[in-house]
Order: sequence, then structure tokens, then C-alpha cells
Amino acid sequence: MIRLATLNDLDEVVRIHKATINNMKNPYKLFKIIIKKGNCYVYADPEVRGAITFDINRMQNPYNKDYGRQKIFWLDQLIIDPTHQGKGLGSKLMVYMIQKSTLQKRFVCNLDLIEYYKGFGFIVHDIVTINQRDQAIMLLE
Ligand SMILES: CC(C)(COP(=O)(O)OP(=O)(O)OC[C@H]1O[C@@H](n2cnc3c(N)ncnc32)[C@H](O)[C@@H]1OP(=O)(O)O)[C@@H](O)C(=O)NCCC(=O)NCCS
Repeated sequence: MIRLATLNDLDEVVRIHKATINNMKNPYKLFKIIIKKGNCYVYADPEVRGAITFDINRMQNPYNKDYGRQKIFWLDQLIIDPTHQGKGLGSKLMVYMIQKSTLQKRFVCNLDLIEYYKGFGFIVHDIVTINQRDQAIMLLE
């Protein structure tokens, strides 16, 4: 059910992104790069119902380019098709990714999702302002 995304999934992933977060100028181009890099997993039954992306780097805070020594597993876009939300698919993708790596995990989310991510063991590491909106940097050791 959860598998690495391929370029065949690109159209569906972009469609779901546009129907949910929709915060990129050129999601097609960006998701193509992410999928080619092997940094996107999808939940498929076999239709793609959701996706999660990640990246590994040494950044402590992507919003002030604060680099550290420790490698961090950054979870990025978690998106579930609106017609399939609330069925536990987002949680399945999140748990799958948490178990993939022993690196420290970080994730930037809207404040209204803090409690949701606390449910996976994340704590609030920092609150940053992005485009005049407060966002939480969540951390899981
Ligand atoms: C947030 C999201 C990924 C959750 O995935 P999902 O499959 O719908 O969630 P699950 O079924 O695993 O869990 C449902 C729980 O999430 C909570 N939840 C979902 N969206 C929420 C939101 N925007 N704010 C607060 N809680 C939310 C619900 O309260 C629900 O809790 P309950 O089971 O106690 O009722 C999904 O709703 C989504 O794609 N939203 C739009 C994109 C987005 O905001 N992504 C997160 C970027 S930080």
C-alpha cells in the first residue's frame, strides 16, 4: 500500500497537492525533482490517495539557513486526497516514514496541526513566521 513514488505517479501527486496545500508556483517541476531523487512515498490502493516527501540535510531551521553538524530527516509535504482524508492514511504514511530512519525527524506545520503530530511523538521545537504566518517546527528524536 505504501511504496516509493515513480514518475507515473507525478500527475496524481500534483493533483492532490493542488487540492490540498497548493503552495507552490510550479508543483509539477518540483515534485518531478523530488520523485526522481527518491524522496517521495505514496499511499496507493492501487490508486494514489496520498503522498509524503522528505529530504535529509544538516539544516536546523530552513527559514534562517541555520546549519548544524547533525543530519536531520526533514519530512515535508504530507498530503491526502480530500475525498480520502480522515481514514487514517495520513497517519499510516507518517508512521511509515518515522520508522524508515533513525535520524532525528523534523517537520514544519501549521499551528492547528500541532496536536495531530504530537500524537506521533513530535514535540514543538520552535515557532517560526513564514509569509506572516506562524508555523511550528516539530521535532522527534
Ligand atoms: C493533515 C492530513 C495530512 C491528515 O491526513 P488524514 O489521512 O486526513 O488524517 P488521519 O485520518 O490519519 O487522522 C485524522 C486526524 O487528523 C486530524 N486532522 C486532520 N486535518 C487536520 C487539521 N487541518 N487540523 C487539525 N487536525 C487535523 C483530525 O482531527 C483527525 O483526528 P481524529 O481522528 O481524532 O478525528 C490531511 O488531512 C491533509 O492532507 N490535509 C491537507 C494538507 C495538509 O494540511 N497537510 C499537512 C501539512 S503540515
